[in-house]
Amino acid sequence: MSSFASCKKVELHLHLEGAASPHFVRDICKSSGTQMPEIFDKAGNYNWQNFDQFLTIYEIVTNLFLGEKHFEALVRHVLDKQVKENVIYTEIFLGPHLWSDRPNDRWERFLNIAIKVANEYEKKYGVYTYFIIVCIRHLGPEKALEASRFASKVKDKNVVGFGMAGDETKFNTLDFMRSFDFAKNSGLGTTTHAGEICGAESVDEAIKLGVTRIGHGVRSCESEETIINLSKKNILLEVCPGSNIALGLYSSLDDHPINFLFNKDIPVSISTDDPPFFSTSLTKEYQDLHNVFGWGFEIFSQINKKSLEFAFCEAKLKEKLIQQL
Ligand code: HPA
Ligand code: ZN
Repeated sequence: MSSFASCKKVELHLHLEGAASPHFVRDICKSSGTQMPEIFDKAGNYNWQNFDQFLTIYEIVTNLFLGEKHFEALVRHVLDKQVKENVIYTEIFLGPHLWSDRPNDRWERFLNIAIKVANEYEKKYGVYTYFIIVCIRHLGPEKALEASRFASKVKDKNVVGFGMAGDETKFNTLDFMRSFDFAKNSGLGTTTHAGEICGAESVDEAIKLGVTRIGHGVRSCESEETIINLSKKNILLEVCPGSNIALGLYSSLDDHPINFLFNKDIPVSISTDDPPFFSTSLTKEYQDLHNVFGWGFEIFSQINKKSLEFAFCEAKLKEKLIQQL
């Protein structure tokens, strides 16, 4: 059996707090004397049954990391895992509204901690970590503009993008046009979640926002026209197969459209979204794709090169990393 642990990887779609393992969360609670929230099942895994419950638990977990020391430990925990998975380049979503409900100095302090740890891991392990500031869709367009303004203000070597996470069913996508225009005009890359909880029409709306990447976007397969549009616009889908299966979009990987999209020449990347919530890891995703679709090192290398082409970092770094794949 091939082992994909050693395969060099690029990950574009990962939520910081969504990568906190249950055991790490429990350790943090114990060491700080914080009461353990009721978010685990008997086996010790996150206990959610649907997307709404997932988002609720995600926010509870986020609230456990509001102290600087714990937040720094979280960034280290997540980057340790990226190192272990042989990730050479990763972009990570940071949602500042989860840290405080309006812009305040914690936004900058936390971002600086994340950047400090990223730089340390780059030097020590050669993993390049870049950040995408996300607005939380269900908080609405005004809050989104706060996040976009913040992203533009802190645009830097390590802050390269603006995106939107949260509940896809809330508000109209085009209500967020101002935030995305603001970010684009500041030179940030843009991406939004779409075509995960909602259907192909949500991908059509995301395309109108002018993004170059879409988080998930897999339900674009429900409309031939949407697929044609994605192809014409050359938009990359940040596909997270294990997340889609855990959330019940597809009953198994055999039914997942990633192979169809790849064969249609739609640019795709492979990510884990919120790995411990969905009982996955990047190596597991690669192994499962190998088992079900026969994908091997050659295809993973091709996909990772494509992911780097669509990454939001500077061109020079992309060229350097593409040589490593
Ligand atoms: N989807 C949407 N919003 C999120 C997610 C997700 O997987 N994780 C954290 N916020
Ligand atoms: Zn996501």
